[in-house]
Amino acid sequence: MAPSHVQPGAPQEPSADRRLSTLVRHLLPSSPRRTAAEDSSATLESSPTMASQGCSVFAGLAQAPEDPILGVTVAFNKDPSPNKVNLGVGAYRTEEGKPLVLNVVRRAEQMLVNDPTRYKEYLPITGLADFNKLSAKLIFGADSPAIQENRVATVQCLSGTGSLRVGGEFLGRHYHERTIYIPQPTWGNHVKVFALSGLTVKTYRYYDPATRGLDLKGFLEDLSSAPTGAIVLLHACAHNPTGVDPTIDEWEQIRQLMRSKSMLPFFDSAYQGFASGNLDKDAQSVRMFVADGGELLMAQSYAKNMGLYGERVGALSIVCGSADVAGRVESQLKLVTRPMISSPPLHGASIVATILKDSEMYHEWTVELKAMADRIISMRQQLFDALKARGTPGDWSHIIKQIGMFTFTGLTSEQVAFMRQEYHIYMTSDGRISMAGLNAKNVNQLADAIHAAVTQLK
Ligand SMILES: Cc1ncc(COP(=O)(O)O)c(C=O)c1O
Repeated sequence: MAPSHVQPGAPQEPSADRRLSTLVRHLLPSSPRRTAAEDSSATLESSPTMASQGCSVFAGLAQAPEDPILGVTVAFNKDPSPNKVNLGVGAYRTEEGKPLVLNVVRRAEQMLVNDPTRYKEYLPITGLADFNKLSAKLIFGADSPAIQENRVATVQCLSGTGSLRVGGEFLGRHYHERTIYIPQPTWGNHVKVFALSGLTVKTYRYYDPATRGLDLKGFLEDLSSAPTGAIVLLHACAHNPTGVDPTIDEWEQIRQLMRSKSMLPFFDSAYQGFASGNLDKDAQSVRMFVADGGELLMAQSYAKNMGLYGERVGALSIVCGSADVAGRVESQLKLVTRPMISSPPLHGASIVATILKDSEMYHEWTVELKAMADRIISMRQQLFDALKARGTPGDWSHIIKQIGMFTFTGLTSEQVAFMRQEYHIYMTSDGRISMAGLNAKNVNQLADAIHAAVTQLK
């Protein structure tokens, strides 16, 4: 039998009409129950899904709140002031305040466009094989025992967020302990991503507002009292939002405790190379956990370090105990990805693979990456110096001690609101500023605003 299609305006078969009426009834849970006779006489004309009637099956929906981070940009865009400064969004800006496409990325794209042998076919569910291998090598190191022993299952995902989501969903289905511990505070999306993956989300202490540094004692105490085998989300480097990372010695204490309690590390690496300007240095924490032979998950993003924000390129790697397990893990990861996105996108992953597999392009990338990291580091110094020059009350040394894209200023939400109102400076209400949005032109405006905020609103 040919499938029945509903043509707008065409007379309906009685059975199709009945099906539509039934559907409408299900979509309108609050409408009063109707009799069978009323149902059978219901026609398309009475369907509230028709726009001409000016009503909607979604009429009862409440307006959802803006995302706390992306909402900053929404407010910024509405501000007509020519002096406005957006320090909310975690994206790199040049000294001129412009977004940056890396030269090496432009070159890779040109090569891809000029290659007549390239098609736009679907990728396999696991993504581009070269990209996956090179991504694992980038984060774990070329000499990683886990890679040499084929114990790593890698799948291409939609940037860091997609990698966390696929990893979370996999754990929700296949791991015996469904509680994930995330740092307090952390990137706001972690809670939602893992809760939607079917995991129970709990926090561990991470940041000490008194020292504006790591609360190692609280961190270790909270992991000690967490259940054996719990999943622990760790920021590989450049912790967002605090900019506070454990030292190598502190990482070692965390590693020993976690391994002694058979906890499963889930690393989030959104800033490899961005923190220090050195890709290997920023992967040190992860490599310590791989070197001990234990298992872990790794979510990788190329948004920041290659500036591929909108291309949504990332990878999820699961380091397993044996090659045999890694093979089965990969087979199950395919079952997670297929109904979510079917298969990942080709273009961004091709750019990354082109750069990572060519030694000369790889080198160019590291130079450009270091230049971005260095500019951010120099903005830290400039902001610190500007506050010192103004005699702004307080100890601001955390600005130069913290690492990566963000500084957790310690400003209160009232002070943040004041700076928006009076100085047109936009940041998240927790006082986080993106150092990448600062430049020689706006750093004094920011220092003036901070000075005014802390002296006028204590
Ligand atoms: C800590 C952390 N994880 C993950 C992400 C995800 O980024 P994306 O999905 O754009 O790769 C971000 C982005 O800001 C982040 O800061």
